[in-house]
Amino acid sequence: MKYDSKHAQPQTVKTPCLVVGIFERNRGDHNLDALDEASSGALRRILKKGDFQGRCGETLMLYTVEGLAAGRLLLLGLGKQRDLTARSYGEAMGKAIKLLQEANVGRLAIALPDTGDSYHMVREAIIAAESAIYRFDQCKSEAKEPRRPLTQATFITHDRRHLKRMQKACGHGLAIANGSQLAKDLGNLPGNVCTPTYLAEQARRLARGKRRLKVTVLEEKDMEKLGMGALLSVSRGSSQPAKLIVMEYKGGKPGSKPVALVGKGLTFDAGGISIKPAQAMDEMKYDMCGGASVFGTIAACLELELPINVVGVVPSSENLPDGNANKPGDIVTSMSGQTIEVLNTDAEGRLILCDALTYTERFEPAAVIDIATLTGACIVALGHHASGLLANNDHLAEELGRAGEAANDRVWQLPLWDDYQKQLDSNFADMANIGGRSAGTITAACFLSRFTKHFKWAHLDIAGTAWVSGNDKGATGRPVPLLTQFLMKRCKVID
Ligand code: BES
Ligand code: MN
Ligand code: ZN
Repeated sequence: MKYDSKHAQPQTVKTPCLVVGIFERNRGDHNLDALDEASSGALRRILKKGDFQGRCGETLMLYTVEGLAAGRLLLLGLGKQRDLTARSYGEAMGKAIKLLQEANVGRLAIALPDTGDSYHMVREAIIAAESAIYRFDQCKSEAKEPRRPLTQATFITHDRRHLKRMQKACGHGLAIANGSQLAKDLGNLPGNVCTPTYLAEQARRLARGKRRLKVTVLEEKDMEKLGMGALLSVSRGSSQPAKLIVMEYKGGKPGSKPVALVGKGLTFDAGGISIKPAQAMDEMKYDMCGGASVFGTIAACLELELPINVVGVVPSSENLPDGNANKPGDIVTSMSGQTIEVLNTDAEGRLILCDALTYTERFEPAAVIDIATLTGACIVALGHHASGLLANNDHLAEELGRAGEAANDRVWQLPLWDDYQKQLDSNFADMANIGGRSAGTITAACFLSRFTKHFKWAHLDIAGTAWVSGNDKGATGRPVPLLTQFLMKRCKVID
């Protein structure tokens, strides 16, 4: 959908459908007052009947309100006025868009409430709207098109002072939504389509015709030369060759240190010889969602032309059982020279990430953030709401925490204390690849911390947030909003 913003009084807006937010307990605001007056009190008479209460996300479509220029009026509950946030506004807007998609409107206008942060409300509304419209039908023989697709949404304010921020939010919101959508598409593709080779091809495609993006793909023979024994040990059990995808986005001053994003790109994780149970194993096609979020964030950088340098590094492989596969007890040598005893072949994410992290040193990054569906334990700890955050630098952790809040894509920090490191002791190698039953998310990060000594580093465990299971199974695109927010803030495109 296209988005823009305009200064106007709500009653004068000519549109097939005007969406107006209504707060619980009929607390009026300028929009309600103006529309009520133009309709000679019809609106408040309707609200007085009490059917519509204004709970967040509640909707009521009105077709016969006289005195308004709009063809329809959609009342959208926003909850209690004092609880209004960009997040709740987005949640409500998602419901409105779902409903309007089934209607015959095509275009709509949205009267923005006076209160609240207009920039973040518009941005969140757009992200929620695009998310409500999103469908993944690349693999259906016939795509189900909506009867009348929505093509245009215009945010209306009666207060000119908001306009600049709203316009900015339109561009930012759509870029974040588009980046998230790319991450969702890559995530939702099945493992037999989205292989390491496919991901590498998508990276090249992203760079096509774009001066600011340079893509390099390291093949297995290149990785052998670099001594990436940990990464290569994982792909040995698969007939799909591993790829190390490197995307250099050059939007900043030449020579200014890049932010590096390192994303786990495990295109299917069967567990290897330590094979997983059959239950929900299909969902392990989502084990490349960290990598997908790097693609999505780079795409957002391109769309926003952010003035910053970013390097995306995506180690990509499958993890399957086979005669050549890693066996429990095997010892591999990482690019860093440290040796690893593979006690569980299902702890493969850290094996591909450790070599990618060592490789990232050559970019002399200002900061490194890795993103990975790394541990089931993270779902036990935090559920599906927050991504896990662990870092060797408190400033970086705080910066990410704030970005997550602002982008409605939250993280929660877990400790990375040395106390946990000894769980990785191995009798036969420098370290084991698993740390026992307790604190699985922390010991996984402890493992990675041994490969991130030379830079400021944060790790995002997105096992619980990258996709949803059940009837609405699908990738979420997280944490593209968080990462994009982090970068926008770093290069001062927003304050
Ligand atoms: N990709 C999985 C983690 C995962 C599992 C994410 C379920 C989301 C849902 C990872 O490769 C894995 O298998 N981790 C193991 C580690 C264990 C063997 C130490 C896990 O979490 O069970
Ligand atoms: Mn695994
Ligand atoms: Zn995995």
